[in-house]
Amino acid sequence: MAILVTGGLGYIGSHTVVELLNNNYEVVIVDDLSNSEKFILKNIEEITGKKPVFYPFDLKRKELLAQVFDAHPIDGCINFAASKAVGESQLKPVDYYENNLFSLINILQEFKQRGISNFIFSSSCTVYGQADQMPIDENTPLKMPESVYGKTKQMGEEILTDFAKAYHRKVSLLRYFNPIGAHPSAKIGELPIGIPNNLVPYVMQTAAGVREKLSIWGDDYPTEDGTAVRDYIYVVDLAKAHVAALKKLMEDESNVATIDIFNLGTGKGSSVLEVVKAFETANDVKVPYQICDRREGDITIAFANVDKAKEELQWKSDTSLEEALKTVWEWQKYLKNRNT
Ligand code: NAD
Ligand code: WQD
Repeated sequence: MAILVTGGLGYIGSHTVVELLNNNYEVVIVDDLSNSEKFILKNIEEITGKKPVFYPFDLKRKELLAQVFDAHPIDGCINFAASKAVGESQLKPVDYYENNLFSLINILQEFKQRGISNFIFSSSCTVYGQADQMPIDENTPLKMPESVYGKTKQMGEEILTDFAKAYHRKVSLLRYFNPIGAHPSAKIGELPIGIPNNLVPYVMQTAAGVREKLSIWGDDYPTEDGTAVRDYIYVVDLAKAHVAALKKLMEDESNVATIDIFNLGTGKGSSVLEVVKAFETANDVKVPYQICDRREGDITIAFANVDKAKEELQWKSDTSLEEALKTVWEWQKYLKNRNT
């Protein structure tokens, strides 16, 4: 049996494909390369010694998707494919709803018609908005997300919940906190396409001299050092959680709807300044920065309660912030060599 991994050449998808191959799953990737590059496939093969099947097309093309299901005995899907830039989603709402929701619905149509279960969805801590209490557990009430991107994640969760209930299928909604880092081989990582929106890729490029200075968005938050706090989770740990979540779904042979929801984080909050300092210490480099006004739409603090994933998936993230940030620097060096 094979697992369909959509967006499998993207940042989190590529790390998950490596873990799936290492656990002897057959992997079929669909990725339209809208936010990834073909060399990632070659590098996945170098890391694992295995060759996943790869189809380069847009999941909105239903007829091509049907052919993939005809050609392979698909037994489950991990659906990473989505557009993910929060700011861009505000400017291009229709495109974001179209890409993130039509892709999802097209896969679910195939699942429905062919009687396939086992669907894992990349959700996000953004569905909680600014939660009233820390840490955030899975029962924390969801708030209307500020961004169109966040709304596509909340809608995706609702669509999948209805799908599972109506057709008695098994779904897992994985709410990632802030993924960071790269593979220890430094052959796959987060591709810096354009100016990074996220903190760690921006820190990486500033340390490398690609950007002059990091702008820290606000030091007047009600936190210990005044900068905002997030839960930064190492991407390889996050990838392993997908394998654990998939195993759990596949081991469940009951014919009833299953809707698993898991927060995937470390359980520990770190401030922006702490991340900058940890990067400098881990890699013995300087990260010049300036303090700026707050970024619109940003929350003050978010970190996860990860007890549920520990108990039900026997999974936890044990990579420290500094260890994760070392892999970021190795990845930057790899990218630099590649481009010279
Ligand atoms: P990414 O952009 O690196 O990966 C997404 C991949 O999907 C890309 O390779 C892109 O080319 C592909 N893709 C997009 N639309 C497609 C389409 N219509 N058809 C085929 N391929 C398509 O993003 P990522 O950081 O790896 O995120 C993966 C998932 O996790 C996304 O759903 C994202 O919303 C979610 N997520 C990411 C974060 C984060 O901070 N990175 C946090 C929470 C949730
Ligand atoms: C982290 C902290 C910034 C850049 C976003 C999405 C969310 C989820 C994760 C997908 C914040 C500060 C950042 C910079 C800075 N993604 N920062 N200077 O905002 O927690 O969440 O990614 O689901 O939906 O909104 O992550 O990495 O952008 O920011 O000071 O140049 O770093 O203000 O406090 P965020 P981030």
